[in-house]
Amino acid sequence: MDNRPQWGSRAGFILAAVGSAIGLGNIWRFPAVAYENGGGAFFFPYLFALLTAGIPLLIMEFTIGHRYRGSAPLSYARLSKKYEWLGWWQVAISFVISTYYAVIIAWAMSFAGFSFNLKWGDDPNGFLFGEYLKLSETPGDIGGIVPGVFIPLVIVWVVTLGILFKGIKKGIEIANKIFIPVLVVLFLIIVVRALTLDGAIAGLDAFFKPNWEMIADPKVWVAAYGQIFFSLSIGFAIMVTYSSYLPKKTDLTNSAFITGFANSGFELLAGIGVFAALGFMAAQQGVGINEVVSSGVGLAFVVFPQIINEFPALNGLFGSFFFICLTLAGLTSLISIVETFVAGVQDKFNVSRNKAVLVGGGLSAVISILFATQGGLYFLDAADYFINQFGVALAGLVQVVIVGWVLKELKNLQNHADAVSDIKLGAWWKVCLIGITPIVLGYMMIQNIITNVKDNY
Ligand code: PHE
Repeated sequence: MDNRPQWGSRAGFILAAVGSAIGLGNIWRFPAVAYENGGGAFFFPYLFALLTAGIPLLIMEFTIGHRYRGSAPLSYARLSKKYEWLGWWQVAISFVISTYYAVIIAWAMSFAGFSFNLKWGDDPNGFLFGEYLKLSETPGDIGGIVPGVFIPLVIVWVVTLGILFKGIKKGIEIANKIFIPVLVVLFLIIVVRALTLDGAIAGLDAFFKPNWEMIADPKVWVAAYGQIFFSLSIGFAIMVTYSSYLPKKTDLTNSAFITGFANSGFELLAGIGVFAALGFMAAQQGVGINEVVSSGVGLAFVVFPQIINEFPALNGLFGSFFFICLTLAGLTSLISIVETFVAGVQDKFNVSRNKAVLVGGGLSAVISILFATQGGLYFLDAADYFINQFGVALAGLVQVVIVGWVLKELKNLQNHADAVSDIKLGAWWKVCLIGITPIVLGYMMIQNIITNVKDNY
């Protein structure tokens, strides 16, 4: 147990955890989710979810990893022999996410290059689907591999696996120490520029304008919890794995607070930047903000190219900054996801790190080629839908129920965390994990099933 690698410093660990948390979800998901779920009023359910589920669960995952010093399957097995499968389930979710997350980073990388000569022209929509992705007309039709996606995808994997080969301290920690500051600085430049554009203030108005009635709607709370879970990378085995590399004396609770607030801070910054830019575009086109709001692939690869086209000056530079930010935010998350199953394989089969990276990472890389085909986007949507329906919240729910209710381990974990942390965990921590979180998550799952059944029949 004692030759487990370690982070070089607590700052390195926190940066890596923050790097995992800050990802595509912060930039392309949060702004639209907040806007559609009450704008300024959304901050209440959002903060509530952060404080009652996000941070308490993060503390729990950090403590499990730190105490049992293993990848998620090994840590759960040490917690109780019967629950190794919980770790593998989370590892499996991470594995699936890694296969398509890598492809989106590859697109972002391509678009960083396209920015310089605004290669997408006047019709970014047609460019994305027709020229760049060469999307096949019929869903399910794989078609050929698209070289324009395949080549950057290879680069993404070479960089990611290269970093993982180097290990925890010399690989993951150093990469995050470089990528995260660069990401923050570039992103701040974009946000400041966006705020000085015409129409920016109207954009912010739309973003922050509270729609109070909406907080009575359970859907809004579901959205808040969903965002917090995905954004903080909780329930994916990641934070357990990362904290298993911590030295014995490390403040866990404080680290979880820093990680949670840093992630939400970045999310808020992204909301401000994105809505300032959307406000600008709405003003240019003489339409309302609600007509230009979007999220996901459409926001990043269609709407942002349109915005960049209309930038008053230095379009290419700001465009490339934006896509470099997406690339870096994505890479630091991808590294964490792949590390999760690399560590799982390594602990389970007692193989060297290099072998585990080669086999685990290599397998994900090979599967990801499926998404670099002409039918790739259909598969990507399907995989993403599947994961969101059956993975994210469910894994989190099962995890709190097993640890809190079945194994009744929270008291032991609390003692462990309190022994190394300045902030002592009060009763609130257990109330959140045993009470509030499972109730809200359980409700979310049931609602989800009901809407699915309704939609399908
Ligand atoms: N937290 C990342 C984001 O906000 C996404 C992510 C999910 C990363 C799952 C790792 C695992 O985009």
